[in-house]
Amino acid sequence: MRCMTTASIPHNTAHERVLHPAFHSKIMTAAQAAALIPAGANVGMSGFTGSGHPKAVPQALAQRIEALHDQGQDFRIGLWTGASTAPQLDGALAQAHGIRTRLPYQSDPVVRQQINAGEIDYTDIHLSHVAQLAWFGFLGPLDVAVVEVTAILEDGRMVPSSSVGNNKTWLDNAKMVILEVNQRQSLQLKGMHDIYYGTRLPPHRNPIPLIHPADRIGQPYLQCDPAKVVAVVLTDESDRNSAFAPPDAVSHQIAGHILDFLQQEVDAKRLPPHLLPLQSGVGNVANAVLSGLNQGPFEGLTAYTEVLQDGMLEMLQSGKLTSASATALSLSPVALEEFERHIDFYRQRIILRPQEMSNHPEVVRRLGVIAMNAMIEADIYGNVNSTHIMGSSMMNGIGGSGDFARNAYLSFFMTPSTAKNGSISCIVPMVSHTDHTEHDVEIIVTEQGLADLRGLSPKQRARRIIDRCAHPDYRDALHDYFDRAQQQATGRHTPHLLGEALSWHERFVQTGSMR
Ligand code: COA
Repeated sequence: MRCMTTASIPHNTAHERVLHPAFHSKIMTAAQAAALIPAGANVGMSGFTGSGHPKAVPQALAQRIEALHDQGQDFRIGLWTGASTAPQLDGALAQAHGIRTRLPYQSDPVVRQQINAGEIDYTDIHLSHVAQLAWFGFLGPLDVAVVEVTAILEDGRMVPSSSVGNNKTWLDNAKMVILEVNQRQSLQLKGMHDIYYGTRLPPHRNPIPLIHPADRIGQPYLQCDPAKVVAVVLTDESDRNSAFAPPDAVSHQIAGHILDFLQQEVDAKRLPPHLLPLQSGVGNVANAVLSGLNQGPFEGLTAYTEVLQDGMLEMLQSGKLTSASATALSLSPVALEEFERHIDFYRQRIILRPQEMSNHPEVVRRLGVIAMNAMIEADIYGNVNSTHIMGSSMMNGIGGSGDFARNAYLSFFMTPSTAKNGSISCIVPMVSHTDHTEHDVEIIVTEQGLADLRGLSPKQRARRIIDRCAHPDYRDALHDYFDRAQQQATGRHTPHLLGEALSWHERFVQTGSMR
């Protein structure tokens, strides 16, 4: 762990990064700050897709928890974040068995294991909903906020870090606040953020005045009542910054189908030549689509998305993308270097917003976003499972996929047609868990092909999904199920043989293969 104590941070760092004099006396070590967090507290931490999370206090808290557990004392917290974090936060606290409840999204292997073992109670929430649920009081009290910032200005306002997530809400609602000021984050991030303080609660809600992805409707800084700040911890540690594997053949094929489809839509005048703002999920396939777009014919593109990864940075660099709105940066080490070297260029093109704005249904609908998200499986009627393995084990969570899919102009879901070396078909008779219903899923894509489901009835969708998206090894069995269901089901609108519908998953659990 490279958490710095005040003694090891150069004196001028505190003066460069913590300008408000009232905060100087609150500078302390991570261990001292962690000691202020009460047992059983709900703690709202910053962090979104491995960026902008506190690095030192969670690790110090994990050490404290381990010591207390060794003495036979119970100490666990409710952990709220923006989305997934990193080993320094989720990993450390889970290793210490210090997490009682978790929301709204995670992707840490130890947290996942403890969720699926029944140790952590996990609440999987649409990312745009978290802030309002906290404001409504539906999540219980928020006792502590632990938020990473880049700097504290003379007037106490804060330059946000590499992600915004739910930080505004945590700072507003928490009873006490611990700030981590990370000198590893570039001071040149100043001016890249747009923090909107205009949201009201029902019945006083007002329209969000954002009509173009690049609009700035708020202020570049976070604010917080200084009286609530109990600790300021200086840190010097980098974000997760994982490198991406180069896109494989399957990802390239999926990307190719999507690009061909977008071209057809432009030709048919159902999409403008510059397309509409792009939303891209995370991972290999998403990056392959972006890399395809970067080499493709479309110019003057925009993005209204959740996370800005390498693919979008490259598109900004090449000029294909003119602006990108997100709530977090999630860059590989190479991309981070490029970003920091040309940060003035990127600051004119990137806007980082709170996740309640980056994912806001009203804005997504108004802009006509093109949503592209990965999934675990789809069924023949177009229902999509993004979260569960074999119906009962959590993978990561719904994230922002529902925020975008339900409100998008076009909603794509993509997956390889098989998983686990072909022993699982990702097209099944009935999904083992439903995150996105047939009503929110317009286009399904695998490396086999693309099924455009717009305007189709369930039976029309079934034929198209099986013929275009299922792997040839499973196509006959899916047709056989569908044919028999049409003859034997009690109703002929969405024909299912309920006793058999999930037998493919059962077969995999029993034998290790759906074949
Ligand atoms: N049945 C069982 N297991 C399956 C499966 C299926 N149909 N499809 C994939 N898997 C397994 C893979 O084998 C892999 O297992 P491993 O971790 O043991 O290797 C794992 O699920 C992840 O699959 P992978 O192909 O590596 O997917 P990915 O990294 O592209 O992630 C999701 C896919 C769906 C898990 C991921 O995109 C996600 O969490 N989505 C939900 C949130 C979201 O969409 N966020 C973006 C919104 S902005």
